[in-house]
Amino acid sequence: MVLANKNIFYFCSMSAEWYHILSKIHWISVLTFLLVYIYKLILLVTNKTGNLDSFSKKFRIPESIISLLFLVTGIILLTNTGNTSNFLWIKIILVFASIPIGIIAFKKHNKIMGILCVLLIVASYGMAEANKSISKKQLRATLQNVPAPKIETNTKDSTQTEQYQKQMLEYGKQLYTAACVNCHGENGDLGKSGAKNLKTTMLNEQEKSMIIKKGKGVMPSYSSLSDAQVQAIIQYIDTFKK
Ligand code: HEC
Repeated sequence: MVLANKNIFYFCSMSAEWYHILSKIHWISVLTFLLVYIYKLILLVTNKTGNLDSFSKKFRIPESIISLLFLVTGIILLTNTGNTSNFLWIKIILVFASIPIGIIAFKKHNKIMGILCVLLIVASYGMAEANKSISKKQLRATLQNVPAPKIETNTKDSTQTEQYQKQMLEYGKQLYTAACVNCHGENGDLGKSGAKNLKTTMLNEQEKSMIIKKGKGVMPSYSSLSDAQVQAIIQYIDTFKK
């Protein structure tokens, strides 16, 4: 399946499984990198520079592999991500600033730079976590502000039912645009962050509803959506198939 190519950085589309695996590798390598740097910082501030130098020497190759893994997976994920938040850019700047500072700090035994380097890495990690909770709150507020259709359904008047259908689709579209479009795209086939193609999905209504409410892999859960909202979104994404 060829996916729409809407972003110049987006040179390859990735399956959900691959994106998920890469995210895990990225997360583990960042954490390992951070632990190594904290350990080195402890040796540095406690003036165990002899130990620091021998540790750095012994683990030079594994450390390079971890840093490489962390950067390469980060860049690949970045080129495919549906996350467009400004926090992401601040995070990247902090990470790239921390690398040269760290190299100099541990080579020259500079404590201030060592502390700064670890702080930058911790801050960028915190940035990613803060970003998650802030964007969840923002999204919840946005979704609550989307007005629901007002027309009563329990009427035999077919023009009213038609109008209701139209309003439901419009409602679904607005919710979808707020919550889903970054990854799935306007037509359901963008495939960012490993998002599955909604044009060709074989899932039934119940399975879709389950994935929307509970999330799956990289896709977040949307537990704050009401049943009516989920229903409206599903009706809207079903229009992609035609
Ligand atoms: C951060 C990116 C992201 C966002 C935002 C997102 N999705 Fe997804 N979506 C994914 C990924 C990744 C998968 C594949 C999950 C897997 O199978 O591991 C997926 C899978 C799905 C599936 C299952 C398709 C199938 O055939 O398996 C549905 C349905 C779906 N998303 C609907 C939505 C809806 C509706 C929204 C908004 C309420 C939404 N998604 C928001 C990334 C996202």
